[in-house]
Amino acid sequence: KFSKNVLMPLVTAASLLVSAPAALAETFKMAVGDAAGGTQWELGTTFAKLFQQKTGGKHKVDLFPNGQLGSEEDTINNAAMGTLDFSILAVNNITPFSPTVGLLTMPYLIQSADEAKKLTQGEVGKELTDNTVRDAGVRIVGWAYSGFRVLTNSKRPVKTLEDLKGLVIRVPKNEIMISSYQAWGINPTPMSWSETFTGLQQRVVDGQDNPYITVSAMKFYEVQKYITNIRYIFSLEPLVVSESVFKSQKPDVQKAILEAGQEATEHSFKYLLETEEKIKKDLAARGMQITDPADGEKAWIAKATTTVWPKYYKSIGGKEKLDRAQKVLGR
Ligand code: MLT
Repeated sequence: KFSKNVLMPLVTAASLLVSAPAALAETFKMAVGDAAGGTQWELGTTFAKLFQQKTGGKHKVDLFPNGQLGSEEDTINNAAMGTLDFSILAVNNITPFSPTVGLLTMPYLIQSADEAKKLTQGEVGKELTDNTVRDAGVRIVGWAYSGFRVLTNSKRPVKTLEDLKGLVIRVPKNEIMISSYQAWGINPTPMSWSETFTGLQQRVVDGQDNPYITVSAMKFYEVQKYITNIRYIFSLEPLVVSESVFKSQKPDVQKAILEAGQEATEHSFKYLLETEEKIKKDLAARGMQITDPADGEKAWIAKATTTVWPKYYKSIGGKEKLDRAQKVLGR
């Protein structure tokens, strides 16, 4: 299930439907950080289908899920160099390359799926895309909306920050997320996403956080027992295209990439709303125990916002960026 050394493209069903002479079809490679079946996969397969339709079958995309093409961080490097065409990964794993996207992982800034959509689709999203092209050599052309990251662990129900103490929690290599756990009183363990399942399985770490849909797609229910329904980060997972690959395309292909990305994004939002609750029930049916944090998460919110926010004003481009985001969200 997790064999990453076998590079086996999972060709989308749509690519079988559109008949084009194989010799004419230019095939792009898309890395997908998660296993097949989650929000990243849904965005990627929808994009591939639309892109192929819009180019009249002249272009197709092969998807490589579950970190087959390297860690999410590797895929950014490879796309920047033009040796990989597309990647879908969590925005928190782009932040080390383009710090201003850290805005989207400021704890408790985004409070609903609608707010996530508002921030990514408007002027804020446009600016972050421009910055990512400038800093990391990749262009964001679509977004997967994956839901709030919930905390899972193999040891005990966690309701309070006191319960968290003593647990070894894996976090992405993302300063803002590391600082959030530090504000909550523990020192988390930074680890690549591609190593996380094994880390949990071998008990190198006790827990991690990711959305319900990702927990399910990655089969974390096999190695985790407890879920705490925290809402500190709404997971946003961009589809990026290598800027050099994008620039080398003809205008009609560029247009097809942008349009397919936008339409796949709309689909991703609907998919989340239709799917998350079902997945949550399924995880409970598989034996996961779901708990709400005590006292409406008040202590978690207070600690993270008061200490983490000011620490990262500078890296996200100044406090005014956070103020503007809050204004966009009507606060
Ligand atoms: C991470 O935890 O590193 C990512 O959010 C995982 C993902 O891409 O789904």
